[in-house]
Amino acid sequence: MRLQNRVAIITGGANGIGKAACETFLNQGAKVVIADFDEASGKELEQHFQNQGKEVLFIAVDVASQESVENMVAQVLAHHEKIDILINNAGITRDAMLVKMTEQDFDRVLDVNLKGVFNCTQAVVPHMVSRGYGKIINTSSVSGVYGNVGQTNYAATKAAVVGMTKTWAKEFGRKGINVNAVAPGFTKTAMVEKMPEKVIQHMESIVSLQRLGETEDIANAYLFLASEESSYITGHVLHVDGGIMM
Ligand code: CAA
Ligand code: NAI
Repeated sequence: MRLQNRVAIITGGANGIGKAACETFLNQGAKVVIADFDEASGKELEQHFQNQGKEVLFIAVDVASQESVENMVAQVLAHHEKIDILINNAGITRDAMLVKMTEQDFDRVLDVNLKGVFNCTQAVVPHMVSRGYGKIINTSSVSGVYGNVGQTNYAATKAAVVGMTKTWAKEFGRKGINVNAVAPGFTKTAMVEKMPEKVIQHMESIVSLQRLGETEDIANAYLFLASEESSYITGHVLHVDGGIMM
């Protein structure tokens, strides 16, 4: 039990990578808050884990809204009285070539993937500082590190996440808070299913390990960075991408 009695908020926990992370964290003894926009999937997942006797709570939130995030964090503290781990995992894509990208799609991706990470961390960090303990894990992407055709908006947010991670590691290291990022490669979720088949095949072919990522591959990296095994690691970007680029 690597996370016994730790309280973890997992944004975007209702589907995909976040869902796998909820299961991994619960199996390691954590009390998990699924903080997601998708009420139907979130409630279903909450019921599923509660039936297994796990300590799980679903809270509906739009990470892009500061008010919604503050409300979510207040509910977590009312229920659990502490927050040990924040996984800033919620994210969206609105892919298009640069010349075709609408301002609306540019703005929405920034609001969720960039401002959402800012909102959640800003709402949680004063509590972590007051306890002198915290683990914050942000989700970047291969797209943010290397760029990707059709992802001007998304790549910009995922590169920005790296900058925020390193900044917060410097700001909060002396307060006992570790801040790291995971940069997943192409991983089998709804996000990748939306891609043209031709592009998926190309991406798979350039991965050194010759396969797409499984959601558990990313969840295990979150687990390592949330556990005490990584207590001397901060400001790091952990690439979990099968060696797609080096
Ligand atoms: N690499 C190289 N060339 C690419 C490419 C890629 N990844 N994707 C598209 N192209 C090329 C096409 O082959 C095409 O070339 P030609 O003009 O020579 O025929 C040109 O770019 C235009 O492509 P489309 O005809 O597909 O143009 P479109 O306007 O219909 O669609 C697009 C453009 C929306 C970007 C579409 O190609 C697409 O969805 N591509 C995939 C984008 C992608 O990789 N998204 C990742 C989603 S998963 C995720 O985001 C998770 C993560 O963190 C990695
Ligand atoms: P997904 O689409 O399967 O799940 C994303 C979850 O985030 C959903 O449950 C969705 O409801 C939630 N969400 C979206 N907008 C929200 C909002 N405004 N407020 C609260 N919740 C919201 O996506 P996936 O693939 O699981 O992605 C998880 C994270 O991993 C994202 O940050 C994504 O950018 C990142 N990532 C994914 C990769 C992949 O190949 N799947 C690769 C690299 C990074």
